[in-house]
Amino acid sequence: MAQARTQAPAIGIDIGGTGIKGALVDVVHGELLSDRVKLPTPQGGHPDDIAEVVASIVDSLPAGDHSVGVCFPAVVRAGRTMSAANVSDEWIGLDAQSLFERRLGRPIAILNDADAAGVAELSYGAAGGTAGVTIVTTLGTGIGSALLINGVLVPNTELGHLEIDGGDAEQAAAYSAKEREGLDWAEWAQRLQRYYSTLEMLFSPDLIVVGGGVSKHHESFLPLLSLTAPIVPATFRNNAGILGAASVGSHVVTSPPPLG
Ligand code: BGC
Repeated sequence: MAQARTQAPAIGIDIGGTGIKGALVDVVHGELLSDRVKLPTPQGGHPDDIAEVVASIVDSLPAGDHSVGVCFPAVVRAGRTMSAANVSDEWIGLDAQSLFERRLGRPIAILNDADAAGVAELSYGAAGGTAGVTIVTTLGTGIGSALLINGVLVPNTELGHLEIDGGDAEQAAAYSAKEREGLDWAEWAQRLQRYYSTLEMLFSPDLIVVGGGVSKHHESFLPLLSLTAPIVPATFRNNAGILGAASVGSHVVTSPPPLG
């Protein structure tokens, strides 16, 4: 008889340049168990101020000794944030894991926001069960990327910063470029074509997943792209970071196992 999976719920927190979101998550099925709480990112994006907001989000969620996973728009290596986009430069090189652990009084996991979205799509969404190479991208202010090989994440790929035609790819092809430059869908799709063709040339992916809020309009731009790999909309948009962070956070041990 198949054994039912039991795993305690965990909290996922998604830190961005304008907002910080969190919820309690059923990490077996990838569903929110609470309302999604969203608070503005404090002015200046200083580490202590952001940790304070994260603590108040955790406090406002259903009580319990829940594991916590946090995702952040930066390279994250061994708990340290190695870059800073739209937040204070104090994050560069900071031991962010220890900062949140001190403030929340429990162990946490921290990872890149697009990597968290990749884990969510892999565990519960559009990238589940695909063998080979999958690239999950998030199109927003920047372009985030998660590279998955046979279901294993290669973290911190930062493929939004590929240099294409002499410039930073996300400057030309992120959703913010469409908005900033007033591009229509067809004009933006040309930028995306250049971007995703470059990803294909470099990685020969078996599947490309497109996330970010704009993916709800996928019918307006994905059919305009001509690629070798299937390119599909993400299952999760604004909750992908929360779900993936919670999934990774759920593997953090919050209390020691009983002796004996
Ligand atoms: C950052 C990435 C992040 C992506 C999406 C990029 O500008 O460098 O770390 O994943 O934006 O937020």
